[in-house]
Amino acid sequence: MPSPDKIKTILVIGAGTMGHGIAELAAVAGYKVFLADINNDIIKNGLEKIKWSLSKLSEKGSLKESVDSIMSRIVPVVNTDPQGNFTKEFENAIKESDMFIEAIPERLDLKQALFKFIDKNRKQDTIMATNTSSLPITEIASATSSPELVVGMHFFNPPPLMPLVEIIKGEKTSDNTVSVTYQIAKNFGKQPVIVKKDVPGFIANRVLARFLNTACWLAYKGLYSILEIDSAVRYSLNFPMGAFELADYSGIDVFYFVNKAMTERGFKMTHCPLFEQKFNSKELGMKSGKGFYEYPKPGAYVRP
Ligand code: NAI
Repeated sequence: MPSPDKIKTILVIGAGTMGHGIAELAAVAGYKVFLADINNDIIKNGLEKIKWSLSKLSEKGSLKESVDSIMSRIVPVVNTDPQGNFTKEFENAIKESDMFIEAIPERLDLKQALFKFIDKNRKQDTIMATNTSSLPITEIASATSSPELVVGMHFFNPPPLMPLVEIIKGEKTSDNTVSVTYQIAKNFGKQPVIVKKDVPGFIANRVLARFLNTACWLAYKGLYSILEIDSAVRYSLNFPMGAFELADYSGIDVFYFVNKAMTERGFKMTHCPLFEQKFNSKELGMKSGKGFYEYPKPGAYVRP
C-alpha cells in the first residue's frame, strides 16, 4: 500500500504552465523530481522559470537551502521521440519513480494513453495523480489496471503561490490513495481539500466556467469592451485579475477544453463562441504572445 514515507521520487509529466510550477513545489519539498515533456525547449524554459522563481523566494529568505541545491534535484526527461513513441529515458524515469503527477493538455485521449504507458511500466503501489481541471478521474483511471491508485491532484495557477489543491476521489480511488496524496500536498506546503464527488470541473472550475462564459457573452454581444468588463471585475468586484486577463494568463486553450469537457458531460452552459474562435486562430494568451490582450514577450506576464 502507498505511504507518504515511501515517496522519494516524483515524476511530473508536462512542463508547461502548470507542470513546471508543480515540479518546483516538489523539489522545494525535498523530493527528487523528473520533469518530462515531449518538447525539450519547453523543459528548458520551464527550468529557467523555476530558477527565476526560486531566486525570488531566496531573496525573500523563504528557502531553507540554495537555489542550486534545489535545482540539482530536478532531472529533465524528453518523453517521446520524433515519431511520438515514448522514449527509453521516460520508461526508466517511470521505473524509478514513487509517484506521478500528470499535467499535459486537457484531452482525455492523451491522458489515457499516457496513464496506460505509466501503468504498464511503474513499480507496484505507485500513486498516479492527474492535474486535470475538468475530466472525471474515473474516466482517466479506466485506462489503467489499478484505478484505486488514480487520483485528482488539482493545483491552481501559479502552483507555487496558490494555496488550494483539490484532491479528487474517482469512483474506484482508494481512501489510502486519497490520504497519501493529501499528505503529499501538505508536504508541498499547500492547503488540500478532498473532493468526494467526481463531477466534471469539480468545485472551483464549475464556478469559474460560468463567470468566464458570462464575461465572454457580454463582450461577444458587443455590450461592453473587454477592457470595460475586466476593469469592472478587477476594480469593482476586487478580483486580482479580470476575466479575460485570467483566461490569457491560464491559457485560452485550457478553458476551451475545460468548457467542452464539462458540457459534453452534462454541465448546462451555452458556449460563448469567442473562446473557440481564439483557440482556432491559436491566440492562446500569454503563452502564445496574444490572446484577448497582446504580450510583447510570449510567456511574460504584463498587466494589460
Ligand atoms: P500547457 O499547454 O501549458 O502545458 C502542457 C504541456 O504538456 C506542454 O508543454 C506540452 O508540450 C506537454 N505535453 C503534451 N503532450 C504530452 C505528453 N504526452 N507527454 C508529456 N508532455 C506532453 O497546459 P497547462 O495549462 O499546464 O495544463 C496542463 C493540465 O493542467 C491540463 O489538464 C489543465 O486542464 C490543467 N490545469 C491548468 C491550469 C491553468 O491555469 N493553466 C490550472 C489547473 C489545472
